[in-house]
Amino acid sequence: MTTTQTSVKVCDHPLIQQLLTRLRDYQTPSSEFRAKALQISRYLVYEAMRGLGVRGSGVETPLGPAPGTVLSDYVILAPVLRAGLILSEPAQDMIPNARIYHVGLKRDEQTLQAISYYAKLPDSLPPDSHVYVLDPMLATGGSACAAISLFANLGVSTIELVSFVAAPEGIKKVHSQYPNVKITVGAIDQQLNEHGYILPGLGDAGDRIFGT
Ligand code: PRP
Ligand code: URA
Repeated sequence: MTTTQTSVKVCDHPLIQQLLTRLRDYQTPSSEFRAKALQISRYLVYEAMRGLGVRGSGVETPLGPAPGTVLSDYVILAPVLRAGLILSEPAQDMIPNARIYHVGLKRDEQTLQAISYYAKLPDSLPPDSHVYVLDPMLATGGSACAAISLFANLGVSTIELVSFVAAPEGIKKVHSQYPNVKITVGAIDQQLNEHGYILPGLGDAGDRIFGT
């Protein structure tokens, strides 16, 4: 695992890298893509959640008392529709009482601006909220910044982003606007192409996950 000074954690675990390679392959069919995307999502979310707040809580084993641990953060999962749903499935499995706030964003293909079409958040959130914005692709960073802003505007200070692949341009944009946001990724790729796609990337994540 490599962590840069600007809080990007690149998960170089062989199992993650093997899965990412299958996702990158243009010949991987949608059914396999979805299955592998679910697996890599579990690993990346697991790695991102190393920083969760915990508190001690004793437990009784059949042989007597033992020290224990419970999560203390108010965990919020924020999958960016559509593709981010793949990350929220295993995250919700792991933390069944996490709150899920879906964020509907669609990138305009010409301007590459993120257009919001769904966001239903409460008026306020608890001070111990720990938000995980989930989106497999961090390209220009417009979608990630739009999703992060929803929570930052409510005063949430602990916000993280989990993605399969990031472009340097997207990381720069997120950290220029939100320097404290930690980013966990499977890889940082070379650059964006003229259409805002990550090179080499893995193509359109939503289309490949949902077979569209
Ligand atoms: C893709 C992807 C991200 C966004 C990344 O979604 O899943 O949300 O683009 O690009 P950006 O960093 O330049 O904003 P898209 O808008 O294609 O929607 P979809 O998931 O519904 O296909
Ligand atoms: N969205 C994707 O799904 N892939 C990219 O490479 C860029 C944006």
